[in-house]
Amino acid sequence: MGWNSWNTFATDIDEKLVMDTADLFVTLGLKDAGYEYIVLDDGWMAKERDENGNMVADPQKFPNGMKALADYVHDKGLKFGLYSCAGSKTCAGYPGSRGHEYQDARSFASWEVDFLKYDWCNTENLNAQGAYETMRDALAKAGRPILFSICEWGNNQPWEWAENVGHMWRVSGDITNCWDCEVDHGGWSSWGVWKIINMRENIRYAAGPDHWNDLDMMEVGNGMAVAEDRSHFAMWCIMASPLILGNDLRIANTKTIETLTNSEVIAVSQDPLGIQGFRVSNKDSVEIWAKPLFNDAWAMTFVNMSDKVLELHYDWHDGVVEDKLNDLKLEIGTHRYTIKDLFQHKKLGDTSRKLEATLDQHDVLMVLLEKKEEP
Ligand code: GLA
Repeated sequence: MGWNSWNTFATDIDEKLVMDTADLFVTLGLKDAGYEYIVLDDGWMAKERDENGNMVADPQKFPNGMKALADYVHDKGLKFGLYSCAGSKTCAGYPGSRGHEYQDARSFASWEVDFLKYDWCNTENLNAQGAYETMRDALAKAGRPILFSICEWGNNQPWEWAENVGHMWRVSGDITNCWDCEVDHGGWSSWGVWKIINMRENIRYAAGPDHWNDLDMMEVGNGMAVAEDRSHFAMWCIMASPLILGNDLRIANTKTIETLTNSEVIAVSQDPLGIQGFRVSNKDSVEIWAKPLFNDAWAMTFVNMSDKVLELHYDWHDGVVEDKLNDLKLEIGTHRYTIKDLFQHKKLGDTSRKLEATLDQHDVLMVLLEKKEEP
């Protein structure tokens, strides 16, 4: 859980932004909610390496250097992350780490960096698995524990090889702040929330503690409707995706912060089993997803995909909610589960009766189901 500069600021970043963000992690309750990493994306480095080939921070944007900034973040009890790229240049044209992997890893470790996002532009004929393994090994040699975030957009199926290479891997091209759109940039596209959710079928098997499918930095607070933000956040939690904020915390409104710090929803994301959720059904404009949790509990989301208000009548006996991969099933026939609405924070009875709810356009009902003790 953390924050990344890219979605809102692109390369327009500086040390004040990081310090303000670290302060706001504490004052807005984000730190208490579990957000920990503050990550600078592309554009933190000078346009050229120094005379010894070292990657250095842009002296205008970061006049005090990266170590001082990392110290500031650490003093708040938070962690600090940086970005680099497996290619010769980053996507925004700054120096990449190709051919400098061990040198750069040592610089990052010496600045006490805790997280590295490693991108995939300008890689020409590089082999993806090999390139990411090289940086993994370089980080290990540098001797500091650094979370390694793989960002090759799912082009080379990292879910098939990256479990022992990185801690998370992007599964798609870049997110953009819309519900279900594709934005064509000529040669590449960015993707709305539901485009990303629907992009990869059947890769949930690859996710688990310390090796996650990464649905990209979130767009909560970046212009979608409050209901859409809520659904977006709920789905990232159901999917056990890393939760990386992508908004400007200095102008975040209370609704945004309320969504992002909802501790019961976050608990679904952070559940110790670490199982990525799955689609139960999508009919009549309702997407239904489920995630098995510790202690025989389940979380479920019911998302209104239509642009009208919708009355939900969900009969628990209608179909089977079953995680075939993990051999887990909602045992509706033999047990009752209590139901809690995790956004309204209220109890909704139990599974002996239909689940009835009114869902606004693109809104979500997210529930926690807990097995009742049998009499
Ligand atoms: C790629 C990544 C983004 C961001 C930019 C930076 O597009 O997918 O998340 O890091 O590069 O240039």
